[in-house]
Parts: sequence; structure tokens; C-alpha cells
Amino acid sequence: PLVSMRQLLDEAAKGGYGVGAFNVNNMEQIQAIMEAARATKSPVIIQASRGARAYSQDKFLYHLMLAAADLYPEIPVAMHQDHGNSFETCKSAIELGFTSVMMDGSLKADGKTPTDFEENVEVTRRVVEFAHERGVTVEGEIGVLGGIEDGHGAGGTGLEHVTDPDQAVEFAERTGVDALAIAIGTSHGAYKFSKKPDGKVLKMDLLIEIHNRLPRTHLVMHGSSSVPKDLQDVINQYGGHLKPTWGVPVEEIQLGIKNGVRKINVDTDSRLAITGAIRKVFAESPEKFDPRDYLKPAREAMQKVVSERMTEFGQAGHA
Ligand code: G3H
Ligand code: 13P
Ligand code: NA
Ligand code: ZN
Repeated sequence: PLVSMRQLLDEAAKGGYGVGAFNVNNMEQIQAIMEAARATKSPVIIQASRGARAYSQDKFLYHLMLAAADLYPEIPVAMHQDHGNSFETCKSAIELGFTSVMMDGSLKADGKTPTDFEENVEVTRRVVEFAHERGVTVEGEIGVLGGIEDGHGAGGTGLEHVTDPDQAVEFAERTGVDALAIAIGTSHGAYKFSKKPDGKVLKMDLLIEIHNRLPRTHLVMHGSSSVPKDLQDVINQYGGHLKPTWGVPVEEIQLGIKNGVRKINVDTDSRLAITGAIRKVFAESPEKFDPRDYLKPAREAMQKVVSERMTEFGQAGHA
């Protein structure tokens, strides 16, 4: 059934596990997640970015997600707006029927300039008020995630981006968010680290402090793809060109989960799996032109990586 994200994350907190939040733009990605959920008996968070809603005319995506909840009645499904950047975006997602929204008030509309704290508090508080009256969950964000190759992790400094614990506590208390995305050393996309991470990618002390001070606010890690070498290799082997890169090691995510992370956002790993599978078919069978001939392997490749993450995050067996 469709459930609020709060319900899923409360259960996860009780059970001490994390729940992957996987991004979708189309039917095959939704099917991949649902098949993975069924195979591993996992509750799921399916999330759509603003870009995904624009790409799919959101109503298509919404009805596909409804179909998912219908066809997999044993799986609790939360339908989440990823990176809403205004009250209006969150409101329209709620009115469409999403059970959870992220109000990402950490950046201004240009997507670059950090907002001031008060601005973020104000817009997020408004979203919480609107959402909670309707039983919808809210994720906020405090701190700014690293951008592409801006020096996080093995690269060097970049520490100015990490979340300040005092701000996190004040933000959570004043807004009443259910979940809070914090910046603890991750960044979006495939190019997170230009060297193999040394096992200390995440600012674990920061995470522990925030979790101890906000035990009832579910912590969220964005930018949590692991960018596995084998998925990169398939793409490169069949005519693609990815520069050498490293993501967040699964073991570090697991350590994060031990210390209070409940929602883990993954998009890039799915994209890599899909693209590799399609490239392989195109390279090996250039005579083929039926989209099912490459979308089916693409869907299976995404299902495989999503299943792995569900097992690794500990949500498997909890549906
Ligand atoms: O946070 C970004 C997610 O990976 C979604 O990406 O905005 O390109 O759909 P997108
Ligand atoms: P990745 O790019 O690491 O998959 O992160 C996705 C994300 O944070 C979506 O909000
Ligand atoms: Na999100
Ligand atoms: Zn994100």
C-alpha cells in the first residue's frame, strides 16, 4: 500500500535499518524497484525530482507509482518529491498525491547560492504546516552538499559545506521536519571522489552528534551512490566514456545507518546500470531495434543493483 514516509522511517528507526530512496523517471525504473522490493521483501521509497516530474508530465509518473502500490500490495510504498525547491513545488506534489516531500531550502532558485538560515527555516516551516495537515511527511535540508569535484573527501578541503550541528538542531526544532538531509561529505552524481576513498568519506562524528541531539528526526543522506567499478566497466567496454571515479563505499553507508541515517538517496547507480545494459545490447546486437530488446535488460540491471542496496541497507525482510 501507499504509506507516508514518516511511517516507513519510524519502522526503520525501530529496526535499526536504512531505507533506500530510488529516483525514477519512467515505467521501467519503477518496475525495477518494485521487483527488487518483492524479491527482497523490502519497504520502498520511490522518489521523483522536479526534472522527473517535468520529463514525465508528472501525472504519468504518479499513475505508474499508484499502479506499483496496487500490483505489489504486500510492499509499503512511499511516494516522495525529491529536491522540491519552493513551497509551490511541494504543494503541487502533495495535491497530486505524493505521501512525502523534500523542501530543499538550502539553495536559492539559481541552485547555487546558499540561502540564509532564516529563509530556509521560513519556507520549510510553511511546507511542514501544509503537509502535516494532510498526513504528508516532510524532509528538509540543512547544509549544502558538495558539487562535482569541489574537493570533498579524498580531494581535499570542502569542509565549509558540511552541516553545522547547532544549526541542524535549531532548524529541526523550528520547522518540525520529519526527516533532515545533512551534508556529511557526499555529493551528487557520478564524480564524487577522484581517488579511491580511504574509508573516512563521511564525517561520522558530525553524524553521531546530530543524531544524539535529534533522536526523533530521521537523518537522510543524499549523494549516496557507490558508483561501482563493474557498472562503470560495462559502460566503458561498450563504447561509453566515463572518467575514473569513486562513489560512497557501501560499508560507510552501513556505518552511517548504525549512527542514525534512515533514508539513503540513490540515483546514479541506477543510471549506470541502465546505460551499461543498453550499450551492451547496442554493441552486441546492432541489428536490433525493438525497444523491449534493450529496455528489458536495462530494467533487470537496475533491479539487480537496487536489490543489492536493499539488502545492504538492511531494509530487506521488513515489508
Ligand atoms: O538529486 C538529483 C537526483 O539524482 C535527480 O536528478 O534532477 O537530474 O532528475 P535529476
Ligand atoms: P546520487 O547521485 O549519488 O545517486 O544521489 C542521488 C540523490 O541524492 C538524489 O536526491
Ligand atoms: Na529527497
Ligand atoms: Zn539529492
